[in-house]
Amino acid sequence: MNDKELVAFEAAKLAKNGMVIGLGTGSTANYFIEHLAKRQVEEGLSISTVASSTVSAIKAHSYGLKVVSIAELKRIDLYVDGADEITPNLSLLKGRGQDLVMEKLLAKAADQFIVVADKSKLVSRIGEKFIIPIEVIPGAWQMVKHQLEQHGAEGDIRLNAGQDNVAISAYGSYILDMRFPAKINDAALNTLLNNTPGIVEHGVFYGIASQVLIADNGNIEVMGV
Ligand code: 5RP
Repeated sequence: MNDKELVAFEAAKLAKNGMVIGLGTGSTANYFIEHLAKRQVEEGLSISTVASSTVSAIKAHSYGLKVVSIAELKRIDLYVDGADEITPNLSLLKGRGQDLVMEKLLAKAADQFIVVADKSKLVSRIGEKFIIPIEVIPGAWQMVKHQLEQHGAEGDIRLNAGQDNVAISAYGSYILDMRFPAKINDAALNTLLNNTPGIVEHGVFYGIASQVLIADNGNIEVMGV
């Protein structure tokens, strides 16, 4: 097992009979889906799942997991997902996969939000390695970009893979990819993005994670016990 699979395997052990479990998106979340499905088959585990993306829903269905619509749920028991960056105080950067609206909704709705990642995701501050994805109402992208630039941000609207049109998120938003000055800490960045009109959602997950499982060459470290 590689490190991503190892943490996903460990997180799948948290599933209990009767739980509603949120499925993240990405390569680590994919391993979680596989190991959850394995427990369902091998142990007769009885669970329902809700997916943060169409691709995860398709994967879960293909492995025989019951997938329910988010519209039927007020809360969930457990949400397991990967992250692009993780700080020592459990702030996260997520959303590379353009599904961050659903990811944050499920993470907030869960009694337990468990993050699974390998050691490469550890950073000292959000934005250290990656740009911050910010979903905006299509008509507002220029105003939002201008307002963020007043705080020293730099970046632009994301284009699609063919570079011939703008990228559209799963939620139907445009996406700004922005870098912020290092002097803006995670809490301030979260507040700034939460308080800017026109922003639908953003990739900074501040104060949401319950626990982070980090795999490092076959060993697992638990952050936030
Ligand atoms: C998708 C995400 C992913 O969890 C994040 O990009 C990590 O992906 P991976 O597990 O493939 O490294 O936030 O929106």
